[in-house]
Amino acid sequence: MDLSPARILKQANVAVHEAGETILANWAEAKSIRHKGRVDLVTETDVAVEKELTAKLGRVLPNAGFLAEETASGGDLQGTTWIVDPLDGTTNFAHGLPFVAISVALWNEDDVVLGLIHLPRLEETFSAFKGEGAYLNGKPISVSGSSRLVESLVATGFPYDIETKAEGEVERLKSILTTTRGIRRMGAAAVDLAYTACGRFEAFYETGLKPWDTAAGWLLVREAGGTVTTFEAQPFHPFAGSVLASNGIIHRELNELMNAPSE
Ligand code: IPD
Ligand code: CA
Ligand code: CA
Repeated sequence: MDLSPARILKQANVAVHEAGETILANWAEAKSIRHKGRVDLVTETDVAVEKELTAKLGRVLPNAGFLAEETASGGDLQGTTWIVDPLDGTTNFAHGLPFVAISVALWNEDDVVLGLIHLPRLEETFSAFKGEGAYLNGKPISVSGSSRLVESLVATGFPYDIETKAEGEVERLKSILTTTRGIRRMGAAAVDLAYTACGRFEAFYETGLKPWDTAAGWLLVREAGGTVTTFEAQPFHPFAGSVLASNGIIHRELNELMNAPSE
């Protein structure tokens, strides 16, 4: 398959910008919300944007498959596959908060080779192609150089089945809150990863994410010079049960702290 970075990135970039216009057009509309779980929402916009993106990305690489949130049925990753979260931050969207993103990654054989995270409300587009670096609105970005936890801002998020996991999450929050500069919960994992890639956050961690939440951001953080592993310090994979992304410098210390029971 012709995986010429310049062509694919350019065309995928056009597709995510057009899909971003759809999100903006629906921003002020009354939202028709369906529940996938107690607090797991889906709006008409999630579904419409996914349909738009699969049609447009399908024209960029006609033989590629799709793993897209609203139409995914289990599955694994093989060959050449677009991994799509049409609207990351649906709860933010439903409440009028600007931290919403379109996350698009391209999987080829055994790795993600392209990542695009577009925030239409904030007019920021993060992009990466494997081996070519990471960019924000076309300008190169890199992870932060902070080496001290007390100077580190750490992002996290909570799984939709938090009621079954609250204790462990609170335990981890306590360890991190008492040793770092603070914690942020933006409500969109793709944004958390993109912000780690450009150095706004020193690190991001979460459990229970899906490939469409993490695939693009995983590549962005790597291409920006950071490190991404599981909580068990194993190499990350989009189907992993946990993710810890960081500037690399604080990775080990933060990882040990997260896994150690707090006093
Ligand atoms: C969610 C967001 C949130 C994270 C959840 C995700 P959605 O994605 O990324 O930050 O905490 O685990 O499922 O449902 O808004 O696409
Ligand atoms: Ca998501
Ligand atoms: Ca989503």
